[in-house]
Amino acid sequence: MKVYIVKDYHEMSKKAASIIAVQAAMDPDSVLGLATGSTPVGAYEYLRKWSEEGTLDFSGIRTVNLDEYKGIAKESDQSYYHFMRENLFDHINVKEENTYIPDGEKEDIDAVCRDYEALIRKLGGVDLQLLGIGRNGHIGFNEPSETFPGECHCVDLAESTIEANKRFFESAEDVPRQAYTMGIGTIMNAKKILLLASGEDKAEAMYQTMCGPITPRVPASVLRLHRDVTIIADEAAMAKAGTR
Ligand code: PGA
Repeated sequence: MKVYIVKDYHEMSKKAASIIAVQAAMDPDSVLGLATGSTPVGAYEYLRKWSEEGTLDFSGIRTVNLDEYKGIAKESDQSYYHFMRENLFDHINVKEENTYIPDGEKEDIDAVCRDYEALIRKLGGVDLQLLGIGRNGHIGFNEPSETFPGECHCVDLAESTIEANKRFFESAEDVPRQAYTMGIGTIMNAKKILLLASGEDKAEAMYQTMCGPITPRVPASVLRLHRDVTIIADEAAMAKAGTR
């Protein structure tokens, strides 16, 4: 596990974007596993900028997103489909048909999850998976539980996640209660993993992830068993893990 502690969100974003850019340059057909939320927005801004400047080429890149709310229309401002278009896809030369997100409009849970796993396998697996971390240590929408879920599945969102994500909605009542997410097994199958964390509200999750027991009660702790994980975290997020 490589850990980079940087000053702030801005530095975290720039470093993360550099790693993604190197991946895209070294392997122009890469499968990038992408994330939503506030954490990766700054990195996506850099990728957009470098694309606009002509430094980056995404024409052969395939992308698979970690998760999507269940029961939300693609066109909704709150869908991750919309988020990815607005923050990244509409501004780079990735081909739309090469971008994949679990289909939150579909009700058939088994079919959505089975198809998404099959898709990732067909693409040859994820080369570089970008992750944020929840305040409760979740990755994707794998919430704390008694076991590590293997494959793509539908989850009931934890109250703390609904609370954290309500800022994107009119009210907490409007936050969907369920989501489709890659499983821990799906994430762990990625060849490389890049975890980002910024801000003091992630400090406890980072401490538990890096210093606590490896347990499904802190889903991100499993990353310590992966052979190629890079963490980029700012000083505030590392305040408790204290590996400075
Ligand atoms: P955030 O969410 O980037 O909005 O903090 C991260 C997560 O919940 O995984």
